[in-house]
Amino acid sequence: MNIFSERISSLQPSAIREIFKYMNDPEMISFAAGNPSPEAFPAETISRITADIMKYDPVTALQYSVSEGYAPLRDRLKSDLTQKGIFKEGDDDIIITAGGQQVMEIITKLICNEGETIICEAPSFIGSLNAFRSYKAKLAGIPMDDEGIDLEKLESALRANPKTAFIYLIPNFQNPTGKCTSLARRKAVLALAEKYRVTIVEDNPYGDLRFAGMDIPNLKELDTNNLVVYAGSFSKTLAPGLRVGFMCGRADITQKAVVCIQASTVHTSMFPQMLTYKFITQTNFSAHIEKLQFLYKDKAKLMLDALQFSMPVSIDFTQPEGGLFLWGTLPGGDMMAFCKKAVQNKVAVVPGNAFLVDERDPCLSFRLNFSYPSNEQIEKGVEILSKVAKTMYS
Ligand SMILES: Cc1ncc(COP(=O)(O)O)c(C=O)c1O
Repeated sequence: MNIFSERISSLQPSAIREIFKYMNDPEMISFAAGNPSPEAFPAETISRITADIMKYDPVTALQYSVSEGYAPLRDRLKSDLTQKGIFKEGDDDIIITAGGQQVMEIITKLICNEGETIICEAPSFIGSLNAFRSYKAKLAGIPMDDEGIDLEKLESALRANPKTAFIYLIPNFQNPTGKCTSLARRKAVLALAEKYRVTIVEDNPYGDLRFAGMDIPNLKELDTNNLVVYAGSFSKTLAPGLRVGFMCGRADITQKAVVCIQASTVHTSMFPQMLTYKFITQTNFSAHIEKLQFLYKDKAKLMLDALQFSMPVSIDFTQPEGGLFLWGTLPGGDMMAFCKKAVQNKVAVVPGNAFLVDERDPCLSFRLNFSYPSNEQIEKGVEILSKVAKTMYS
């Protein structure tokens, strides 16, 4: 007897569980996670702020509150995002969510009817794809080049799918590829969204983690027609365990988003919101971000140098200018066999097809994370990976 709703029955366990069943091995070197570095957490400061909250304002931290989120945090974010040109006229408010992930869930629930299309980059972030799938959206994955999503294919998809609920994009240091969408491509995507009057959901958890190159304006900054809904997160700049993210966009969308939050979590937990507020206002938050940028710059360089030194030249790697990931592409052969052999030798990477709209589509790529493993693990893991690669590609 199938007791599950149609929405959930359509969600299948991932074909890559084959890889993840090895992950509990304590000797496994994981390049497969999406976690920040354990060195990135300012635990002592968080401990001090926690004590202060419990001493001076325990009731606010422990009591029910409003669904929009902790007002001082929203005001501060509104002011910061206004300065950056992200929050602007026509936007209603900042809504605090349980991480950026909840924004994807809320937006889908709000504006995507069952069977309507969500257009995304291919590959794209698996957590968002699963949120979209859970509302029975039809997913259209559009291939990317080094500048971002393919414009011609995007326009064809918009033409072929008049019932497109929104376009989902991760323009900065995309998960999983590490790619950054160029300014020209951002403008062109916005022009298409305008032409077809489609909402864009811009997911930006990595934007502050740029460690090379020049900042590029966000889609939300460039948007003059209020088409972009923006999602941010403190998961990669403070701590993912706090579950603090936020969204802003047109008033009609954010006002309805509050109703969704009321119906699901009531509100994001107050204590981590207060902690986040105090951390960004009472400490030198820019210095903290700068520290993370240096940390990830070093780790990315260590991994890329090691890959360049030891991997067969036929295997291509993206050169990210920020974020937590890079993307390898094999010249041919069997990507899944490569990933399985790597994990059997105690190095885990994520097979690229996990990030596709349809996992069965052909894929020669795999994702590597450089933030979570220690420097020693990066060196040792790449050495193992290159031995595996050489048996298959030299
Ligand atoms: C592109 C992207 N969006 C959203 C998220 C969700 O992050 P969180 O809910 O922790 O803010 C992640 C997490 O890895 C991500 O990579």
